[in-house]
Amino acid sequence: MDRLRKMNSNPTNRLTATRTVFSFIFILCLSFLNTVDARQLPDTGTYKNGMVVCAMPQASQVGLDILKKGGNAVDAAIAVQFALEVTHPQAGNIAGGGFMVYRSASGKTNTLDFREKAPAAASRNMFLDSTGTVIPNMSLATRQASGVPGSVDGMAEAFKKYGSLKWAELVQPAIDLARNGFPITRKLAADLNYGRGQFIKLNPGKNYLLKEGGWKEGDLLVQEDLAKTLELIRDKGRDGFYKGKVADEIAAEMKAGNGLITKADLENYHAVWRPAITGSYKGYRIITMPPPSSGGIALLQLLQSVESYPLSRWGFNRDSTVQLMVEAERRVYADRSKYLGDPDFYKVPVDSLLNPAYNKKRMSTFSWAAATPSQSVLPGTFAGYESDQTTHYSIVDKAGNAVSITTTLNGGFGSKIFVGGAGFLLNNEMDDFSSKPGVPNMFGLVGGKANSIEPGKRMLSSMTPTIIEKNGRLFMVDGTPGGSTIITSVFQTILDVTDFGMDMQHAVDAKRFHHQWLPDEVTEEKGALDDATKAILTKKGYVIKDIGGIGRVDAILVTPTGYQGGADPRGDDTKLGW
Ligand code: DON
Repeated sequence: MDRLRKMNSNPTNRLTATRTVFSFIFILCLSFLNTVDARQLPDTGTYKNGMVVCAMPQASQVGLDILKKGGNAVDAAIAVQFALEVTHPQAGNIAGGGFMVYRSASGKTNTLDFREKAPAAASRNMFLDSTGTVIPNMSLATRQASGVPGSVDGMAEAFKKYGSLKWAELVQPAIDLARNGFPITRKLAADLNYGRGQFIKLNPGKNYLLKEGGWKEGDLLVQEDLAKTLELIRDKGRDGFYKGKVADEIAAEMKAGNGLITKADLENYHAVWRPAITGSYKGYRIITMPPPSSGGIALLQLLQSVESYPLSRWGFNRDSTVQLMVEAERRVYADRSKYLGDPDFYKVPVDSLLNPAYNKKRMSTFSWAAATPSQSVLPGTFAGYESDQTTHYSIVDKAGNAVSITTTLNGGFGSKIFVGGAGFLLNNEMDDFSSKPGVPNMFGLVGGKANSIEPGKRMLSSMTPTIIEKNGRLFMVDGTPGGSTIITSVFQTILDVTDFGMDMQHAVDAKRFHHQWLPDEVTEEKGALDDATKAILTKKGYVIKDIGGIGRVDAILVTPTGYQGGADPRGDDTKLGW
């Protein structure tokens, strides 16, 4: 990693370094995003009264129980969020952040931004050394890597506006799971064993998530200190986390190692309701997340870029389909690098980016004969513009209210640093900022001023929780983890349903590919593109690389007979309906 960061500081090596870092992150993620296993496709049955699809079976069960008790989709989402903190420590988070996209049964939409913020003491060059070089790992595995957590405030806000059961009822199932323990899956055992070395190194004297001799499938994971922290949240709501004992412990943890988050940062944190951004695609209405996520804008740009082409005639993952999608992705990710950032700090040119004429013009520069080299694709220009390990869950209830939430610690197990005796992990979301213009972050993404570090600013995200309507009615709830691949995975899942006629589970199972402008390569899950397609594209100059797994999409489709789930077989993801 040191070597990679040194390479990154040299502009002549940037492209190579970007590639190498990107490969590195996929190797890092392999443990978390396993390759598709050969299990039988689960049923594509439908349910009339509600459905929960999330990363862990126990958390899906918690959500379903809340729906059956008469809770609405937001109630269930809050319970799932806390249950994932316990059952999915790779990404579940009370010390992380995320985004919620909401559509009520009557069609009203809203989004909640509970993304982490840079602490007040953060500064633009905080991850650079005296020569201006990015310090390896500083934005990933230190106390400075953490943004001010947003998840607990987000859940409290969501509850205030839409909750219908009692708050305590929504937090209690997570407390029970933490205190009584639950039998872990094979994948969780493997991930915990993978994290062991770092847990020990970064947390001397603590034994959270450690087991003598290593974890195996079926072992009981008990988290008593986490149960106590969750009890404070159950009894005091937001104040149980942002004030008092937990806040003291977070502040003390920061002081123990140059961390920046203070008690004032915690008290001042507030999630923000933002109007959803919407767009249309072939008669569907797309409701998605505005900045500080780049995901919603990028998704709408991608859909606009391909809308006028006959994708269904060409077919799923055929060469013309893949070429078109890759060229759209190249251009959209170039725009992302320059124009996307926290709208409270940077004027994101939303209207220009979402102008259909703009995206059409961007696509006019590609040739069917050969790949457009990324070096020749710069972020677009607009007349009159002044420069200036994640998890997703989808829930619908009996009434038809829908929730789409993507939420994260960033890396697998976040910074891998636990807070004092409070039993939970800190995020390493500061890496989502651009530490230095043009130097890639752990997902190989580059950025500049729009996403530079400033006190109180939210780091740019790729998370793309999305809800889709057809003829004014709920049609689909969609989203995934996967860093920079989130946007393209959501894009592909939508096309798999709208253009390639797949049901929800097959769309989720379908193998994916990805391009993000830099590095200039197409990554594919092995077998996503057949040999003939690869040969055609390679001849045109596309560099195609196999990677272990892309995304973990958890989605719901509304069919004439009821809700149909798609739970990603790449993880332990589980769909439950009733
Ligand atoms: O907000 C973002 O875009 C990233 N922090 C997401 C990280 C992620 O998806 C990791 N999961 N595999």
